Amino acid sequence: MHMITLIPGDGIGPEVTEATRRVIEATGVAIAWDELNAGAGVIPECGTPLPAAVLESIRKNRVALKGPITTPVGTGFRSVNVSLRKELDLYANVRPCKTYAGIPSRYTDIDLVIVRENTEDLYAGIEHMVGDDAAESIKIITRKGSERIVRYSFEYAVREKRRKVTVVHKANIMKCTDGLFLSVARAVAAEYPAIEFEDMLVDAMCMKLVQTPTQYDVLVLPNLYGDIVSDLCSGLVGGLGVAPGVNIGKGLALFEPVHGSAPDLAGKNMANPTAMLLSAVLMLRHIHESTAADRLEAAIAAVLKEGKDVTSDLGGRASTSRYADAVIAKMK
Ligand code: NAI
Repeated sequence: MHMITLIPGDGIGPEVTEATRRVIEATGVAIAWDELNAGAGVIPECGTPLPAAVLESIRKNRVALKGPITTPVGTGFRSVNVSLRKELDLYANVRPCKTYAGIPSRYTDIDLVIVRENTEDLYAGIEHMVGDDAAESIKIITRKGSERIVRYSFEYAVREKRRKVTVVHKANIMKCTDGLFLSVARAVAAEYPAIEFEDMLVDAMCMKLVQTPTQYDVLVLPNLYGDIVSDLCSGLVGGLGVAPGVNIGKGLALFEPVHGSAPDLAGKNMANPTAMLLSAVLMLRHIHESTAADRLEAAIAAVLKEGKDVTSDLGGRASTSRYADAVIAKMK
């Protein structure tokens, strides 16, 4: 029996989480869910959007599955998602990006992985007003933070039998911060001669990803570029509704879709649960339930290929729950 923390989140979170929980149950893998929530909805009861019990549960169980959580814009509490990553030192955000037959997209053979640094950069949120009419934000890049994320990317490439790592930066302009990231990346790359290594300016990278995405394999990026470029990549393979992810720390793994809480779809049973289901596939592999993971991924791929039970973002008319039912039926 696996003990796993489950955080449904808000917006479309509870809907895609419920669909995913049902589908995982149908794989037959025995999981005891430790269900807790975070976000604006728990503030009245807990006095904070990120209760200590949530952090304790993840630390204890070491594996968590999480739905998206809304962050107020401009004012209000700090992003719960960012706080979770900081508090638990979940330093690597891994976002596989792969085409599945049946999903409308410009390309048919993309299979790349974004490795986003998750704790530093402008995302450290060190900002202040300078008088009333100017604002400053501090970009933090450390040798230690850069080393561990680049090393993680190379170790990932070796483990997953990938051929190339591309480090993405803007070191021509940000000579100190991105310059440090790049020089550390070069030093780490030298330790992995069997893996091809290249570096690319983030602006050029965006153009090349749109034009020739199949050239790329593993991309490693500082936090903010990783955030933006991973959404670009999800657009290449069918959109945010199909992009899974995991946040990795020392002995900890928190699985979550790339997308947010999609307030425009919340409560309508319309959201695409694929991103969360594929996050569950990654989670099953992580807990060494590879047979169940393969069965689940094959069932998702079959439903996508058939195209008759998919959600509206993929051109279909099915609800979130009907899509989940179709995946369950394919596993029988
Ligand atoms: P979003 O990802 O929620 O939505 C962007 C667009 O993609 C919307 O048009 C939405 O309908 C669509 N979309 C997203 N997920 C979908 C799905 N599963 N099926 C079909 N369509 C889907 O991004 P947005 O609007 O920028 O953020 C909304 C809220 O979510 C914000 O408060 C943001 O801070 C939060 N957020 C939370 C994340 C997390 O919990 N890890 C990650 C990203 C955003």
